Amino acid sequence: MFFSFIISLFIAFSLHAQENQNSSEDLLIQEAVKCYKNAYCPYSHYSVSSALITKEGKIFRGVNVENASYSPTICAERSAVVSAVSAGFRDFQTIVVISRDGKATPCGVCRQVLNEFNPNIRIITADPKGHKTGEYFLDTIFPEAFGPKNLEN
Ligand code: THU
Repeated sequence: MFFSFIISLFIAFSLHAQENQNSSEDLLIQEAVKCYKNAYCPYSHYSVSSALITKEGKIFRGVNVENASYSPTICAERSAVVSAVSAGFRDFQTIVVISRDGKATPCGVCRQVLNEFNPNIRIITADPKGHKTGEYFLDTIFPEAFGPKNLEN
């Protein structure tokens, strides 16, 4: 009797924690959906938007910003990172990436930039309607990364 009470309590807490995680995940996806229309991509016509959440619960957004000279293009993920760092936040927990089919994962350069701040950041992909399409952890899709630790004495 006592044990089944403890087990029920444990299940209730787990479900509650899972619900909280899902709702904060949905919120972050919605934040990224909101700025999808702001992507500046006249050359590729491939819009991408992103939203990241910090340890403090702050959310920063970004879109891809292309350039007539092509190589200065900045991806949505790096836009969000630059925005967060500029505001004084560096501890990133999760980043959402929105693309037309929900299949865009961060490019190699963005993986390197994300690795700088959190080698194990959670990456969620979604489509412009806000449907989640995937979930990854950076250290599994960007293993053996070169990072700040390599430069320690
Ligand atoms: N792009 C991103 O912004 N993030 C990604 O994860 C993949 C690619 C952008 C860069 C460029 O503006 C366009 O998508 C096509 O490569």
